[in-house]
Amino acid sequence: MKDTSRKLAKFLYKKNVICNANNENTNYNKIVRALDSFSNMHTMSNKDFLEKILMGAFKLIPEAEKGSFYELVDDKYIPIVSNGYDINTLQKLVFNREEAFADYKCSDIASIQAYEIYIEERDNTKFSEEIINTLKELGIYSKYTCLYAPIQVEGLTRGLICFECFNKTGFTKTSKKILRFYAQIISNFYTQKVLYEKERKIYNEIVDALVSAIEVNDKYTEGHAQRVRQYSCNIAEKFQLSKSQISDLSTAALLHDIGKIGISTEILNKPGKLTVDEYNIIKSHPIYTKRILEKISGFSTIANFAYNHHENYDGTGYPQGLKYDEIPFESQIIQVADAYDAMTSERAYRKALSSHEALKIIKKEIGKQFNPKIAKVAMETFSQI
Ligand SMILES: [Fe+2]
Ligand SMILES: [Fe+2]
Repeated sequence: MKDTSRKLAKFLYKKNVICNANNENTNYNKIVRALDSFSNMHTMSNKDFLEKILMGAFKLIPEAEKGSFYELVDDKYIPIVSNGYDINTLQKLVFNREEAFADYKCSDIASIQAYEIYIEERDNTKFSEEIINTLKELGIYSKYTCLYAPIQVEGLTRGLICFECFNKTGFTKTSKKILRFYAQIISNFYTQKVLYEKERKIYNEIVDALVSAIEVNDKYTEGHAQRVRQYSCNIAEKFQLSKSQISDLSTAALLHDIGKIGISTEILNKPGKLTVDEYNIIKSHPIYTKRILEKISGFSTIANFAYNHHENYDGTGYPQGLKYDEIPFESQIIQVADAYDAMTSERAYRKALSSHEALKIIKKEIGKQFNPKIAKVAMETFSQI
């Protein structure tokens, strides 16, 4: 993202939209700084993202006194963020698409432009009395200049960025050029964010479908995957893992038993004791988990965390018999969360243990089945649940 913003700023520099790249306070540096602040846009809330868009533009348009960002949702323009206006008053201005900015040009257009309009007085035949009063209260009923630009995704307007200047001089040509380029760049970022959110939605739907597939096969594990995920995330929070580590751990915990799809329902739901052969078949489920998850692009880390959820700290686990630091830390968290939930849930062959009994077993297994550091934090976490 940083490279992109620098390239774009250089492009603007060449186009004479901005000048003197070496001076800290030039538009070049202001644009680079404004665009750099979008580097983590995928993890921002929508409101934070729109606030960054608006505030970034404010730094580039010196004549702007007030401004706001309207998002177009279900054919209605809704003010989401503003600078200089009381947001509660501004939010009374929710318009239908066709009536919104009756005197403005902001329909879907091929190229993104910045427009300037001087409003001597609003046409009061176009608005209700309530809207006129709100416009007057906000000071945008008459005698001001607005500089605005649509933000588009694939040629369709998704929002409108507006700046008001109450001084007769209005906006300079440079400000218009800068807003035009800024709106084009932001439309690009906005498109990326929309696509990323679509991808994320599909990803979550795939994960949910996989979890339901395990539960169809094994009636005793209903809700198990979600609880193991919740416990794992609660434990992980105490170890200050990064957001992306927690995200991978969360998905791995949710899908750790997906390989049980490959085990016959009769064995999974057998009420009595398992034979050695049957137990060995059950023990192959982490291998199936790995095979399934590895097929999904971008899941190799998640597949590895889930694959190792039956490894024991002292090397007596399966499928690889890894020990100590050889076992990924995230897998060790899933392992203790999985063990606690398995013990406190009813199974085909036994009744559920109480939380107290399960905690006693975890304590006994510290240093054997469980990593002492993780087990200690896990026990605190479980006793608070
Ligand atoms: Fe398992
Ligand atoms: Fe499990």
